[in-house]
Amino acid sequence: MPTAAPASPQQTERVLVLDFGSQYAQLIARRVREQNVYCEIVRHDLAAARIRELAPRGIILSGGPASVYEAGAPRCDAELFRLGIPVLGICYGMQLACDALGGSVRGAPSREYGRAECEILEADTLFAGVASPAEVWMSHGDRVDAVAAGFVPLARTPACPLAAVRHRDLPVFGLQFHPEVTHTPAGGAILANFLRRACGCSGAWRLDDFARTTIDRLRATIGDDRVICGLSGGVDSAVVAALLSRAIGDRLSCILVDNGLLRRHEATAVIEEFTTHFRTDLHVVRAEDRFLDVLAGVTEPQEKRRRIGRAFVECFTEEAAKIAGARFLAQGTLYPDVIESGAAADGPAATIKLHHNVGGLPDDLKFELVEPLRDLFKDEVRMLGLQLGLPERIVWRHPFPGPGLAVRCLGEVTKARLDRLRDADAIVLEELETAGLMRKVAQAFAVLLPVQSVGVMGDARTYDDVLAVRAVETEDFMTADWSHLPHELLARMSTRIINEVRGINRVVYDISSKPPATIEWE
Ligand code: XMP
Repeated sequence: MPTAAPASPQQTERVLVLDFGSQYAQLIARRVREQNVYCEIVRHDLAAARIRELAPRGIILSGGPASVYEAGAPRCDAELFRLGIPVLGICYGMQLACDALGGSVRGAPSREYGRAECEILEADTLFAGVASPAEVWMSHGDRVDAVAAGFVPLARTPACPLAAVRHRDLPVFGLQFHPEVTHTPAGGAILANFLRRACGCSGAWRLDDFARTTIDRLRATIGDDRVICGLSGGVDSAVVAALLSRAIGDRLSCILVDNGLLRRHEATAVIEEFTTHFRTDLHVVRAEDRFLDVLAGVTEPQEKRRRIGRAFVECFTEEAAKIAGARFLAQGTLYPDVIESGAAADGPAATIKLHHNVGGLPDDLKFELVEPLRDLFKDEVRMLGLQLGLPERIVWRHPFPGPGLAVRCLGEVTKARLDRLRDADAIVLEELETAGLMRKVAQAFAVLLPVQSVGVMGDARTYDDVLAVRAVETEDFMTADWSHLPHELLARMSTRIINEVRGINRVVYDISSKPPATIEWE
């Protein structure tokens, strides 16, 4: 969980999101930044005194999975409602605010999930300029049953008489629905009203401020030391390397671990890019056998991640030992990695997946970590990459997980299975490129299943592997729709894979969205 640092001059208009464990907390932050207001996510129980010191223009209480009336439910410091700083509670956040100020919260007679029609009762603060009725997205089992004197209802839905409220004397607002999701079309306008009308933000923050302040902060943190940056070829590590190269110049050494789990030609392409374009001090560690050894016989996904994480750090440590004066290790950890790994171990977010670049690091790591993208989303990283002058072919490359093909090779990871997967994956990407759909599709890849099926090739019966093709469309990778690829394209992929890749006789297409599925299969 990022801890808020003192505001830089560019960040005087800062809003804090207190995270109560909502999978959507980070979307709130992103929506605030889209209004050009700098926003950071902090622990839900940050002391009111500390919040006063940080002097945010506004505070947003996120949703969360708990019930306010349950013992042990996460709460904020109730003093924050008396700081005079505008507070917007969303879903659980609204229930908490109303409860803290003397109202009551109960299980709703009928749980409300999905779209609802919201009648606006007062249109001069949060709902200024929003047409009534407004379509909103609800997702709650509890609701505010009664509010204390001083609260004014702002909106209602048929199932929720208090869908939005404000306090008459305190700058406290609540929304039972989720303004941060795209299913609430006026959500951006409602958040903008909170930020501008209630908090008085001017909306002057820009992403290039982020680059500037991050470079300054990196310089201050690193001092005269040397930093090692792991390059994977993806946009995240490339942006980190670009930021570091601006901040500390030739005190940056990059290490590429060729773990044998990369996509076809990936290592070669990365070496080429980073030696000719970036002229970095690039060290390439050839470690395929080592990774295959540690993965031998392992089928459990989290165990694969753990072992890969460990081997990866070992490779780094060994290579770094050859680089004099390296004290820091830079990583391209993004905000969704932090959230989905439940990195706030004592925080309420559920652990969904152990991302190797977050959860798999051993405690005795010899480096101090530098993670300058920890507060950003993928699309923000791409914008930053373009601003830093990275070429489009790097900026728009599909993301690739740190544990690489190991988490797409379901079941046991062997060289033969990896090669089969790599060949099929290359065909998927080639065909997508030829169809001109690389940018429309956010991520596409092949997954080798630990399943055989019967087929017939020539006159002979086969009993070969099944391969799944996955292609998703998403802006932020927190939610994703499966991509409705043209049937002819899918047919070409399937025919080519079955004809060209030995050992695969069946191709299936993954038609699951996230949630409830994730993008990767493991
Ligand atoms: P999921 O599968 O969680 O993926 O929907 C969301 C995004 O994260 C990538 N991903 C990973 N990246 N280490 C990483 O560095 C991992 O262990 C990992 N697992 C998933 C995934 O490719 C997608 O872009």
